[in-house]
Amino acid sequence: MNKPRETFNSRMGMLMAMAGSAIGLGNIWRFPYMMGRNGGAAFILIYIIMLVVLCLPVMVSEYLIGRRGGFNPFSSFDRLAPGSKWRWIGFLAVLSSACILSFYCVVGGWSVKYLLDSCTLAFSNPHSDYAAAFGGFIGSPFKPLLYTLIFLGLTGLIIVFGVHKGIERMSKIMITVLFVIIVLVVVRSLTLPGAVDGVRYMFVPDFSKVTAGTCISAMGQAFFSLSIGCGTILTYASYVSKQENILASSAWISFFDTLFAIIAGLAIIPAVYAIAYMNGVEPDVSAGPGLVFITLPGVFSQMPLGGVVAILFFLALLLAALTSAISLMEVVVAFIIEELRRSRARAVLMSFLVCGVVGVFCSLSFGPLEGFKLFGLSVFDFFDYITSNIMLPVGGLLLAVFAGWRLKRANYLDELTNGGKLNIPRWLALTIYYLVKLVAPVGISLIFLNCLFS
Ligand code: TRP
Repeated sequence: MNKPRETFNSRMGMLMAMAGSAIGLGNIWRFPYMMGRNGGAAFILIYIIMLVVLCLPVMVSEYLIGRRGGFNPFSSFDRLAPGSKWRWIGFLAVLSSACILSFYCVVGGWSVKYLLDSCTLAFSNPHSDYAAAFGGFIGSPFKPLLYTLIFLGLTGLIIVFGVHKGIERMSKIMITVLFVIIVLVVVRSLTLPGAVDGVRYMFVPDFSKVTAGTCISAMGQAFFSLSIGCGTILTYASYVSKQENILASSAWISFFDTLFAIIAGLAIIPAVYAIAYMNGVEPDVSAGPGLVFITLPGVFSQMPLGGVVAILFFLALLLAALTSAISLMEVVVAFIIEELRRSRARAVLMSFLVCGVVGVFCSLSFGPLEGFKLFGLSVFDFFDYITSNIMLPVGGLLLAVFAGWRLKRANYLDELTNGGKLNIPRWLALTIYYLVKLVAPVGISLIFLNCLFS
């Protein structure tokens, strides 16, 4: 730690990196099928409420802790509450990030494979059995492992170049390309005959599908999608200058992330409706994780210009996954650099090895290790479940409790307003503070307990 810590060079770069972290498989792969299962627009509505009331305050706090602490999660907590046990929350965050990355890179690997396949026109035959092809691929004992490691390798390659030259620069490029591509895909999807029913499905709420489970799913999805609760925002925030407006940045990132999830829905759901009508069958958008990798290839094979759209779509998926994966790996890398005093290159290699090994086990759980269960779940599902439904909400809860109860109110407000330099109205600053101190911890606990006992 002799060299001064790197920082993001511009506000735009910082926002793009954070938005890149938030926008990911969670938006393109998870959000549409969550929505499909939970009543379409009704889910969006609940999601937005969760976002504003519970997640935005947690995000502001995580940002604030990172910027005030100025280090990786472990040391940031230690600096803000010297010598206390709180730093182990920081450690938990690093651990959660590593766990998420370990299964995230498996799906990232699938997107590499599907991008390559779409380039060789693999999705041009309407009579292929795409479900069997997908099942065969993810279940094979060798190929998906290779793609998982390729994806993880790409992630590491970007991080080796550091915060400015690697993360910031690449996020800026990738997020820009991503937006352009996804808009093109939306245009294609919406101009198919019958697409309008898909749009109606997305925006007309069906409250009959809303249950207590919807609320926990919406909260879990919001935590996952915003990248909060496991130190990603905290680590990125430690590279942010003291002049930035924490509240405005957090609001922008949340807004972009939600906007992108809805745009991704518009790219996928209307197309699924249109092609289903064309074939005279009922559209099924609640197909779960298979929506993107099974339903969509079938959809592409039947739509005019489908070959090009497939390439664009899977490229978008890969870019979105990469910008998120770098944010996850950076948490682990920053921890190794600052706590274990290794060079950046060594730290990247170590993270690659650890997440690669766990990732390989996650991937094998779709094939040779299918019968091996942890608490009744396959290795992949286990990591997905414990991170989204337990570690992230618990991490978010602890972050909010720390920010609301351990940091002094004056310090919280001081950091939020950059020492009084920003003119954030006092009522707004106080509202955020009390959302963090009271509403977020109570809300998260209630939803969490409800889920544990039902
Ligand atoms: N938010 C990303 C997505 O939507 C994934 C992600 C990146 C993440 N960093 C995270 C999820 C931290 C939880 C915590 O795909």
